Amino acid sequence: MTLYRRAAWAAGILVVLCVASLLADYVIAAQRAPQDDKRIKSLQEQVKSDASLAPNLAAEQKRITGAHLARKFRDRWLAWSLIAASAAFLASAKRLAPRGAGFQPARVASLPRSSPAPRSTPTLAPGLDLSFVDTAVALHGSGIESAIPLLQAIQTHYRYLPDEALRRLCELTEITPAQVAGTSSFYGQFRRSPVGKHLVRVCHGTACHVSGARQITEELRRYLAIPDAADTDPSRTFTIDEVACLGCCSLAPVLMVDGHTAGRLTPAAAREALKPFDQEPA
Ligand code: FES
Repeated sequence: MTLYRRAAWAAGILVVLCVASLLADYVIAAQRAPQDDKRIKSLQEQVKSDASLAPNLAAEQKRITGAHLARKFRDRWLAWSLIAASAAFLASAKRLAPRGAGFQPARVASLPRSSPAPRSTPTLAPGLDLSFVDTAVALHGSGIESAIPLLQAIQTHYRYLPDEALRRLCELTEITPAQVAGTSSFYGQFRRSPVGKHLVRVCHGTACHVSGARQITEELRRYLAIPDAADTDPSRTFTIDEVACLGCCSLAPVLMVDGHTAGRLTPAAAREALKPFDQEPA
């Protein structure tokens, strides 16, 4: 790793020097060109009246042409050196950068890691078996076109998109962390936080909205002590999801717990609808 770091530094310094030299050459040439033109024109005027100055004009033209050719030769070498140094810098930097770093940086880079574990043994959420990701990739493929089916499979299996599973996905496929982050945040179907044991879908369609869906949701959030900006209670038993029409508007307001529908709710009846699930053995 030290070798790559040194190579990256050396290549980076060379890139800077090449760019600085090219810029300096350009600035100097831009400043000298008008002066040279002016001098040549002046000599040409003098030669018209005094032919003995012709050798001076020829010598000056030779000097300017020589300087121009030398600069072109130097700039060509500088340009090739710049390309080579840039390639070396990128290659070294790629070796140094941990694969998967930068994946939704603010979120994933801040994941707690108990120790700098090798990549083959990442820190996992308790009970999280990543072998499913390998299976899903084998089934759906590793190209970018498989991003959505793979994310859907991961979400179906884990019930959300765990960061560890997404890292593993990026290791196994051509899908980049930025593509995973963009896709998973674009589609509302994907969850980035763990879902509770039971999913409570409270309908906020028009019929349910006018029949008090907001009060139902607020009562359930209060009853379950769900913090603001969260949708799952602290024990991860229930997740409250506000959804559009559930297709049974005549029963408004309606909620559905794991596919079981309860309708014509009051806030108290909504609380009661959760109790059979709350009392299930863990
Ligand atoms: S609006 Fe709630 S079920 Fe249709």
